Amino acid sequence: MQLSLNPKGSGPLYRQVFNTLQEAIIQGVLKSGQRLPATRDLSEQLNVSRNTINTAYDMLQAEGYIGSRPNSGFYVTSELPDTTMAESSVKIKTSAKNIPQLSRRGEALARPSRPVPRINNPSFVPGLPDLTVFPYSQWQQCLQKIDLKSASNLMGYQDQGGLWEFKCVLKDYLQLSRGVKCNPEQIIIVNGSQAGLDLMARLLVDANESIAMEEPGYLGAKDGFLAANAKVITVPVDDEGLQVEHLNSLNKKQRSAVKLIYTTPSYQFPLGVTMSLARRLALLDWANKHEAFIIEDDYDSEFRYHDRPLSSLQGLDSQGRVLYIGTLSKVMFPGLRLGYLVVPENLSSAFAGALRKTGQDAPLLLQAAMARFIERGFFNSHIRKMRKLYGRKQEIFVGLAQDYLNNWLEIKATSAGMQLPAFFKEKTNEKRLLTIAQDKRINLASLNRYCSLKNSSPGLYLGYAGIPIEEMKKNILLLRDCFSALH
Ligand SMILES: Cc1ncc(COP(=O)(O)O)c(C=O)c1O
Repeated sequence: MQLSLNPKGSGPLYRQVFNTLQEAIIQGVLKSGQRLPATRDLSEQLNVSRNTINTAYDMLQAEGYIGSRPNSGFYVTSELPDTTMAESSVKIKTSAKNIPQLSRRGEALARPSRPVPRINNPSFVPGLPDLTVFPYSQWQQCLQKIDLKSASNLMGYQDQGGLWEFKCVLKDYLQLSRGVKCNPEQIIIVNGSQAGLDLMARLLVDANESIAMEEPGYLGAKDGFLAANAKVITVPVDDEGLQVEHLNSLNKKQRSAVKLIYTTPSYQFPLGVTMSLARRLALLDWANKHEAFIIEDDYDSEFRYHDRPLSSLQGLDSQGRVLYIGTLSKVMFPGLRLGYLVVPENLSSAFAGALRKTGQDAPLLLQAAMARFIERGFFNSHIRKMRKLYGRKQEIFVGLAQDYLNNWLEIKATSAGMQLPAFFKEKTNEKRLLTIAQDKRINLASLNRYCSLKNSSPGLYLGYAGIPIEEMKKNILLLRDCFSALH
């Protein structure tokens, strides 16, 4: 009997031999009771080692496809093991008819929008932290010190919207550093703030209602809202932040349909302005009068360089109109997938319940490690170190940009953040610039990406925090080469 391996097969050889024999048995090429080739013969026939054949035979035997007889070799068993399993392991033939069609919501969820930032190539990527100075050993220690045997609360399901100890230390941190007013019950731990945005839209917005958001604004939020079937309307931003008076220019029907207003008041994404106190008060007042709620996305507020951070909008709110959202993707690292919400007291059980239904609850083990990381003081000292480092990086970055990119870009220092906007000084073929940059393996984000009106904000959104200081000049010179190549 002639057996051969699929020339396009992938994976370990023993698995390929196993698959070939399994298929031959299921399709009746190898019949029940039939003797399998001796391992030496098959290893020569397939040009693989005898060990590989032995491993494949052991697997076939363990799964019940073959049996052995003393001094006689291996035989196909008379009964196939689990036929459903056997059938499912045969190659599935797909045709247009049996490919499931995406639902309308599925279409919105699957639509590609923004590239996934690559942590190993941080040049100019907005919002990526510098992981070369991450306190790996302290984090490792916090993970390892958890004694699972005596922590049964970490081994089961959760129903409180997160690990209680973690919520308590977060409450203290948010109160002290961001002026957030809450009790631990109001804190909901999610796997990244993206999950929080999804939950807010799904829990609070009906089909006839809308979410107002800053223009230009954070694409992750807009994508999340649209995928949750919410209608999005845009509100322009000026140098005091979201223009609240624009909400008044909406007609009555539109105004009353606004259920949520999404904003990034600490460091507007992407223009980098801080919302003034007058605007904050006006926004709270508008929300209150129109029975709307505000989503305050405080994504990188820890990094403020020249002045004391303004307290959160949530801390100013006396009417329970603000839903606060924070992430550990910037201060720690994005792969951690931990974010937190602070919701009005009367909504906390709804959010905690929705977490379980949507599976957006974060692993308890990570929450416990994070609580320890904060309690031990590692978190605050890491933030202090990174604030100093990113402040210095911004100074160097802006200095170099002004030296080498001045012909093309207007770049000014900002008081916070991990990235900044840079505006084209003259009409620029942006599409070509991005293609040239891609060829040089540098990541450029266009400011227009964050606008619904195309070409309303011509420029780039440049991340600097993730670039090591010693590589900054090289990156700026590469960008200069991209601009030069346009002419
Ligand atoms: C404005 C804004 N919000 C939130 C996030 C963080 O999202 P996540 O916690 O899902 O990583 C980002 C990340 O880039 C962001 O820019």
